[in-house]
Amino acid sequence: MNTQLLPVNESSLSLAGSIIREGGLVAFPTETVYGLGANALDAEAVSRIFEAKGRPQDNPLIVHISSLDMLDDLCEIPDGARPLMEAFWPGPMTLLMPKKASVPDVTTAGLPTVGIRFPGNEEAIRFIHACGVPIAAPSANLSGRPSPTTAQHVYEDMQGRIPLILDGGKCRFGVESTVMDVCGPYPKVLRPGAVTAEMAARVCGKADVADSVMRPLREGEIAPSPGMKHRHYAPKGRLTVYVGNAESMEKNIKEEYAKCPESTCILCFEQDLPRYHGLNVRSLGADPAQGAHLLFALLRQMDEEGFTRILSEGWEARGEALAVMNRIARAAAFDIINV
Ligand code: TXA
Ligand code: MG
Repeated sequence: MNTQLLPVNESSLSLAGSIIREGGLVAFPTETVYGLGANALDAEAVSRIFEAKGRPQDNPLIVHISSLDMLDDLCEIPDGARPLMEAFWPGPMTLLMPKKASVPDVTTAGLPTVGIRFPGNEEAIRFIHACGVPIAAPSANLSGRPSPTTAQHVYEDMQGRIPLILDGGKCRFGVESTVMDVCGPYPKVLRPGAVTAEMAARVCGKADVADSVMRPLREGEIAPSPGMKHRHYAPKGRLTVYVGNAESMEKNIKEEYAKCPESTCILCFEQDLPRYHGLNVRSLGADPAQGAHLLFALLRQMDEEGFTRILSEGWEARGEALAVMNRIARAAAFDIINV
């Protein structure tokens, strides 16, 4: 299959709309990462997503909408969801709500809830609107690879597998949306993102974070969100993360680096670059928001450059930094060292 990469305009959107209505797949930009979309209400179209990504069938998809009236066919809206919808939609937040019968089981992997997201960038909204149907979309990477934050990343993974990629440039946030369960008395964050638990608590009075966000699942433990049990975001090289003050991170990273300097690369905060002068080093940015924006592209770049060992500085995993640290931790298979 020939894969077209087109800028977002009237003619590419009209092509995208017809591909989706005929049951095909289109990759599209969102403010978080690129999505791989299909008609969420068409079971056959949705099953093509799992095929194209090599995604385990037990991992449910998020359904994307471009207006609130699309919700009527999709889900019940718990009272606790409304203040979050008002405060953070359109935007990088997915709400898990009781699904209605029109949503096929393949979309939700048989779960009674459906994840709904109203994305915040204009290109995604125009794309969904042009399709005229709710769009089921996981991140547009091959399963297990870092999520794509540019159309070029999507092309690397999906070339020959899908007919069309809409190119909207770099994604603004760079890590996936916050996934929040809103079926209980107050919201619970299952996957951290740009909308933090602290922000949710400000509009709902209280919000929780699943404690499995920063640790591997225990033997036999049921994942609150199926995506958490699969290995994720992994570069080919072995990644270790160091968290502590700048001096101790530098000391520990340099000791490990010395074991194999040719094939090792360091990821450090912008302000620590001078500490690693003359070594293989890349900047993770100056703060967690920049880190989130850069992380997945850096992991892909490490693969391309052939590094087999990656040593990264890390922020303390809380507040705004929780999203980026959750992704780094998972890419490192939780090899995190407090120094
Ligand atoms: O920012 C995003 O959310 C991006 C863009 C494309 O919108 N999408 C995305 O989708 O990251 P995906 O499939 O890569 O991740 C969806 C996560 C998975 O961890 C999945 O298990 C979880 O959300 N999820 C989806 N529906 C769920 C449900 N009904 N119950 C529990 N977890 C659910
Ligand atoms: Mg994904």
